[in-house]
Amino acid sequence: MNFKTLELTDNKLRWIDQTKLPLEVVYKISDDYNEIITAIKRLEIRGAPAIGIAAGYSFAIAAHKAQDVSEKFILNVADQLNASRPTAVNLFWAVARMVEMYHKYKDESKKVIIEELFFEAKCIHNEDIEMCLGIGKHGAELIKDGDTILTHCNAGALATGGIGTALAVIYTCKAQGKTLKVFADETRPLLQGARLTAWELQQENIDVTLITDNTAGMLMRLGKIDHVIVGADRVTANGDVANKIGTYAVAVLAKENNIPFYVAVPESTFDRSLETGDEIIIEERSSEEVTKGFGNQTAPDGVKVYSPAFDVTPAKYISYYITDTGLKKGMRE
Ligand code: MRU
Repeated sequence: MNFKTLELTDNKLRWIDQTKLPLEVVYKISDDYNEIITAIKRLEIRGAPAIGIAAGYSFAIAAHKAQDVSEKFILNVADQLNASRPTAVNLFWAVARMVEMYHKYKDESKKVIIEELFFEAKCIHNEDIEMCLGIGKHGAELIKDGDTILTHCNAGALATGGIGTALAVIYTCKAQGKTLKVFADETRPLLQGARLTAWELQQENIDVTLITDNTAGMLMRLGKIDHVIVGADRVTANGDVANKIGTYAVAVLAKENNIPFYVAVPESTFDRSLETGDEIIIEERSSEEVTKGFGNQTAPDGVKVYSPAFDVTPAKYISYYITDTGLKKGMRE
């Protein structure tokens, strides 16, 4: 990749501000965990694994900057991070892991505790890089030369610490010499498909065609799509999947048109503590993101808006989960 989504440098976090893409490639750098939390809320840093990695680094950066490793301080950082975005489990998973590491070392010196927090955050990041590679390798088994793939939202390098989840499969196929075509749903209302997936795939010279979300059904009916691959923000014990709003509609269309539907997902995105997708908290975004998207007013003043950021796709629509440890057969017949 010729860009770095997230990077620890000099005890600070450096990230690509995804709200500025594709027009500008702007990097931000901070050693203030409050600024990192704001960046997560504003979707400057987004995508389930990337949010988890940023959360991990936030602990170490916060403790280092404040030179405070008291339990009160660390648990307060944890609470603030956990309140930033509710749906992606990777955030809560990383926060729990960092708090556990803190408890393991809390009787050591301040220097040791801070070192261990940085070490654990880097482990979370490095493990994500490996998980992306594993997903790419296993997912590529499902795809043959010349296939056309539809994806929704951005589950690429911009959403992870490595080469992505859904897009990792595409990058791995390319590295294996397979020629693929990709259709990217624009992904209303924040256009992660148009702004991020299209940009990211262009950077890597992948043949990508941008479509409006409501074009996907037509392409499927015309037999133009061989596979659908999406990422996930949370997978519950029964196999239900929360992902970007619109994923459910794509999954239903895929089933109707007999097109396999895959969810590319690292271990950090499984939440086996929840039985079904009905228990997942779905983030709701502000009305302005719909009525005044990117500063352009497209709806009357005062209109009521409902804008869930994610939806749940029931397990029965999923052909395979492409995980870092292998392919897991889904419930779709
Ligand atoms: O609101 P976002 O942009 O954070 O939503 C991201 C998605 O829905 C991704 O598909 C998901 O996090 C998987 S990223 C590997």
